[in-house]
Amino acid sequence: MRMILVGPPGAGKGTQAARLLDRFKIPHISTGDMLRAAVKSGTPLGVEAAGYMNRGALVPDEVVIGMAIERISQPDASSGFMLDGFPRTRPQAEALEAALVDAGIKLDAVILIQVDDSLIIERITGRRTDPETGAIYHMTFSPPPADVVDRLVQRKDDTEEACAARLVKYHSDTAPIIPFYESRALLTRVDGLGSPDEVTKRMIDAIEGLS
Ligand code: AP5
Repeated sequence: MRMILVGPPGAGKGTQAARLLDRFKIPHISTGDMLRAAVKSGTPLGVEAAGYMNRGALVPDEVVIGMAIERISQPDASSGFMLDGFPRTRPQAEALEAALVDAGIKLDAVILIQVDDSLIIERITGRRTDPETGAIYHMTFSPPPADVVDRLVQRKDDTEEACAARLVKYHSDTAPIIPFYESRALLTRVDGLGSPDEVTKRMIDAIEGLS
């Protein structure tokens, strides 16, 4: 199964990917996670990306496309992958399509997790991540266990200001990939409202309904 998760910041892409991995046995490939790892280790790519990410802008296509396409060509992704956060511009979608055609690989599905803008800021500003396990929590909606609270971190781009900028970029740059995939009969919409468990059930129903 080769699939893409799309949705606004805070839609629940990372949360749902973590819940679906065991079931579908494919790697979760998040360009946001890859870029944060590069920033943390201070690579030239990370240094370049940090400025864009912290203010809620998109990292340039020429930086991200090569990184993502190289990643999906790794052996662990040979029989499937769950892409999260890529593509998020029309040129990225076109580059991915060309790379998959070259490799003789077919994309199975693009799942759009839909959440209204009015809920996004609260989800984003309440998010905390466990640097040891990568687990994603929300201080109200998915409270962390007491024994991990002290080590949780908040992403630098999870401020109200950066989140507002990310939402603007989502609508201007990422939303255009929705008709791109709709016209290829690959798009499935999933309601991202409700508890994470409810959304997971909808995701599984949607994905299993495809085959
Ligand atoms: P990226 O890391 O991809 O961020 P994003 O797309 O903005 O998505 P998020 O990670 O913020 O949200 P999510 O949908 O995964 O939500 P989550 O599950 O965590 O990208 C970050 C930056 O990197 C970009 O801004 C850009 O600069 C750069 N970048 C990355 N890829 C790029 C690319 N391809 N091109 C260019 N630049 C790129 O959930 C959010 C919160 O809500 C959590 O606290 C969670 O617990 C909570 N929550 C989840 N589900 C529910 C629910 N059902 N109910 C209540 N709360 C919930």
